[in-house]
Amino acid sequence: MLENLPYFQRHLNDDLAKVNAVINQAIQSEVALISQIGTYIISAGGKRLRPIITILAGKSLGYDREKLYSLAAMVEFIHTSTLLHDDVVDESGLRRGRKTANNLFGNAAAVLVGDFLYTRAFQLMVGSGSMKILEVMADATNIIAEGEVMQLMNIGNTHITEAEYVQVIQYKTAKLFEAAAQVGAILAGATPEQEQALKDYGRYVGTAFQIIDDVLDYSGRPDEIGKNVGDDLAEGKPTLPLIYLMQQGSETVAADVRTALQNADRSDFEKIYGYVKNSDALGYAAAEAAKAVGQAVACLNALPDNEATLAMRALAQESLARVS
Ligand code: IPE
Ligand code: IPE
Ligand code: MG
Ligand code: MG
Repeated sequence: MLENLPYFQRHLNDDLAKVNAVINQAIQSEVALISQIGTYIISAGGKRLRPIITILAGKSLGYDREKLYSLAAMVEFIHTSTLLHDDVVDESGLRRGRKTANNLFGNAAAVLVGDFLYTRAFQLMVGSGSMKILEVMADATNIIAEGEVMQLMNIGNTHITEAEYVQVIQYKTAKLFEAAAQVGAILAGATPEQEQALKDYGRYVGTAFQIIDDVLDYSGRPDEIGKNVGDDLAEGKPTLPLIYLMQQGSETVAADVRTALQNADRSDFEKIYGYVKNSDALGYAAAEAAKAVGQAVACLNALPDNEATLAMRALAQESLARVS
């Protein structure tokens, strides 16, 4: 975990141990299958990026109390529940280097345990006693659901614009990063300006993160990313590299990409990846991610200059170079 984020290994070991303690307790249920599947996915690791952002946001404003760790765990629960559901929807077979829960235990169990984690997260929020945090998370989870449905509606859409793609990733992914940062800000009693800066930071990092994730779906290695490559094309998902090819590629390339998106068949991957590799599609996507990272880093100017703020800067920058 976090091999590519050495800065955080040095600075966050104790914090992550506290988050994991909350997670391990909150995953328990009298229903054995819930604890089993919950432990299965959570013990597989994951980068814990969203809880890290909650912790750093709180610490950047001098807050470091118990609630920070239980709400960081809450954010990871929301994330994990969306992964359980997402892998069913995407029919994905590999996650965090292991078989997905749907692959191993079946769709029904994965969806239902996802619901358990989701609702457990709301129990943790209620425990915080903050109506504002409840409101932020209710809104964020609602937007995530909208993002996933918007994406579903764009399966096989060969006319999707870059702006529409960005809206989908802001909803399905960046919103939770934004909320993760905002929760830390609220706990710390941030000024409205600081809270806005942290929200914006989270949204920009989340945007960059998803763009890079979409790049890795083409250029990553399964043993590094812990997921299969080619899932997006197999689903007919028009991500930024393909949007680029449909707009900037030759007529033949653009037509082949459109056909492949509509076929939504894994057997087209080699051909389409060949086009991706021999073009600037990934370079273009990476440059868009780098822009978002630049915007994220600029937001940090509104915060006190301390270790946590520095770590947030490193997290944003290192998200561009990630391999998993
Ligand atoms: C996976 O998120 C879902 C996306 C938004 C791409 P992460 O890559 O943060 O997943 P884990 O928690 O580290 O496995
Ligand atoms: C992840 O979307 C976003 C959510 C889980 C809401 P993806 O489907 O693009 O991410 P991976 O590739 O499965 O991790
Ligand atoms: Mg998926
Ligand atoms: Mg998905």
